[in-house]
Amino acid sequence: MISKAMAETINKQINNEMYSAYLYMAMSADCSSKGLNGFAKWFMVQYHEEMLHAMKFYNYLLDQGAEIQLQGIKEPPKTFATVREMFEKTLEHEKFITKSINEIANQAQKEQDHATFTFVQWYITEQIEEEKNDTEILQRLKLAGESGPGLFMLDGALGARAVTVQTDFSIGVPITGAGA
Ligand code: FEO
Repeated sequence: MISKAMAETINKQINNEMYSAYLYMAMSADCSSKGLNGFAKWFMVQYHEEMLHAMKFYNYLLDQGAEIQLQGIKEPPKTFATVREMFEKTLEHEKFITKSINEIANQAQKEQDHATFTFVQWYITEQIEEEKNDTEILQRLKLAGESGPGLFMLDGALGARAVTVQTDFSIGVPITGAGA
């Protein structure tokens, strides 16, 4: 059993992860409207990853007998000036998520909540990957250029990304592993 305060923090984190999914869905939609189907696919794959992140927390609360308290999801921006702006905003957002995950680990340590501290390690490792991916894409965007053949080539490359995580949450979500 976890504390009420910890359940509150994790419920808030479910909302953060759901907003992440919403934000990347908005970016995917904007890419689709601009004919950038590869970037659109990359962001939609990211949407699925965020849904998994949210649902892992959701299932953890259920496993701990804690109350699920879903909150309103903030409206994401509708359009973005450039693809580079999208990835700059993505990296900035992921840094915010890393901070919020670290705060869960800090709270778990303070409460001597070993179960949550162990559980959140998966997210700590995952955030290294999340920030690294965005940083690398920003570097590639700088190299390829933000228009013309460079952008077209990168669009094709990013379109090769495939969903590797679990997308059916009716069967529960394992505590460890990506649920793939
Ligand atoms: Fe769920 Fe992209 O952090």
